Formats: sequence, structure tokens, C-alpha cells
Amino acid sequence: MTYETLQIEMHDQVVVLTVARPEKLNALDHRTIGELHRAFEAFAGDDSIRAVVVTGAGEKAFVAGADIAEIREQTPLDARRFSERGQQLMRRIETMTKPVIAAINGYCLGGGLELALACHVRYASENARLGLPEIKLGILPGFGGTQRLSRLIGRGRALEMILTGEPVDAHTAEGYGIVQGVVDAGELAEHALGVARRLAAAAPHAVGAILETTDKGLDMPLEQGLAFETARFALCCATEDMREGTAAFLEKRKPQFRGR
Ligand code: COA
Repeated sequence: MTYETLQIEMHDQVVVLTVARPEKLNALDHRTIGELHRAFEAFAGDDSIRAVVVTGAGEKAFVAGADIAEIREQTPLDARRFSERGQQLMRRIETMTKPVIAAINGYCLGGGLELALACHVRYASENARLGLPEIKLGILPGFGGTQRLSRLIGRGRALEMILTGEPVDAHTAEGYGIVQGVVDAGELAEHALGVARRLAAAAPHAVGAILETTDKGLDMPLEQGLAFETARFALCCATEDMREGTAAFLEKRKPQFRGR
């Protein structure tokens, strides 16, 4: 499959997806959003892919937001479709049953932070700046930012970031729980790939079950979430990989999971 604004690289069972419009700091225009949709659909249906890393081209930005030039030209009806499309993309990513890791290599603003928030785990480079500056344009984050940031870090901190529009540095983002680690810019890609490789070697049914129970369970009352967890636990215990994982432990060897 070919893309104009994305670069795709395979590293064994990990795919590294790079948003590549560096001259516009990788801003998400219609075409890029459409290509991201297409790419994640393809990754979801490809059993040879077990984990995804998302990053931005160049040394300056992960993604500097939705494309402001396009936003400016929209009618209200266009804007509604744009927001819905962006939200559908983010939800597609969030509900992937393979882990998606954001490697945040610089400016991660607006739609860029919303993209990162839809990923399952986030790492940032020392020079990363994360924020939702839409207020400065007279709009609000429309790809799920008001919902996901407040759920992730709490209402007070989220509202402070969204109402002021001021970005935070990588260490502040780590303290808030937005990113799970901060590494030197030169080491970010290897770090994210290393984690992705580890996750790719895990039992895929178990990984998918963890992602799904966590995603769905967060919107359920606790009792219902626990029942869902039990059902998925039982299902995992029906897999060959569970036999392999427990046998490998007892035989003191490394497991070889085959996704069955
Ligand atoms: N949409 C469209 N174009 C964007 C963009 C965006 N979100 N972010 C950056 N660009 C473009 C700039 O217009 C510029 O294009 P040009 O060279 O044709 O003029 C190019 O990318 C480089 O950006 P520039 O602003 O010159 O870089 P900088 O280092 O001076 O500043 C930022 C970097 C990230 C601080 C600044 O680009 C910025 O504030 N971007 C917008 C962030 C934002 O509001 N995002 C939310 C959008 S909803």
C-alpha cells in the first residue's frame, strides 16, 4: 500500500509509522487523516504485525496539530465532518487490539497531542512540547482532546492546559502522567522500538484482551468491568499460548507464543 504523507517501515513484527509532512511540522490535513485511517485498518487486519510505533518526520515535531490552513477554509458543516473524522481515527487507534506506542519527538500540539492520547503508551524526547493550543485560534480541541486529556490527568490540570493553551515540557508531561517516560532525542526511536518489540513477542490474544478489557472496562460500572475481565481471562486460558506460557515458566525456558 502506498501513502503520500506517511512512511511505513517494518522491523520484524513491529511497524513504525512516521507522519511525514516535515515542511508543515507534520500537521494533519485531510489527506494525512485519510491515510492514517487506511494504515491503521491495514495494520489491524495483518496478523504479521503485532505492535505499532507512531512518530513524526524530522527533528522538530511529532505532529504540530490539525492543518490550520484547512481549518480556516471550512464551513461549519465541513468542520463537523472534520471533527467526526478525526475522532473516528483516534477511536480506531485507541481500540486497536495491538499496542500502539507514540514516540513524541518534538512539538506535539493540538491534533498531534490528540493523536498521541489515542495511543496506548507514550514516550517523549527531552525537547518535546505537549499542548492543546486551539483556544488561541478561537476553537477547541475537536479530535477528542477535551475528553481524553481530562480522563487521563484529571479535570483541573486538563482544563488549565486547554484553557490557557500553553504547552508543557516533557518532564512536566511525565509528572502529569501524559507520557510514561522521557529520553534523549537521539534515543527515542530505539527506546520506543525496544518496548514495541517486547510487546510484539507477548501472547497476542492476551495483549488484545488487556487492551480491550481496559478500554471497554473504563466506561463500565466496576461489577460489569470485572465480569468482562473474567470472561476474557477464561478465553485466554483456552489458547495454546497460555499452555506455552505456563509450560515455559515451569520448564524454566523462554516462551514461544504463536498467536493461537
Ligand atoms: N497547521 C498548518 N501548518 C502548520 C501547523 C499547523 N498546525 N504548524 C506548523 N505549520 C507550518 C507553518 O505554517 C510553517 O509553514 P510555512 O513555512 O509554509 O510558513 C511551517 O509549518 C513551519 O512552522 P513555523 O511556525 O515556521 O515553525 P516555528 O518553529 O516558528 O514554530 C510551532 C513551531 C509549533 C510553535 C508553530 O508552528 C505553531 O504554533 N504551530 C501551530 C500549533 C497549533 O496551534 N496547533 C493546533 C492546531 S488545531
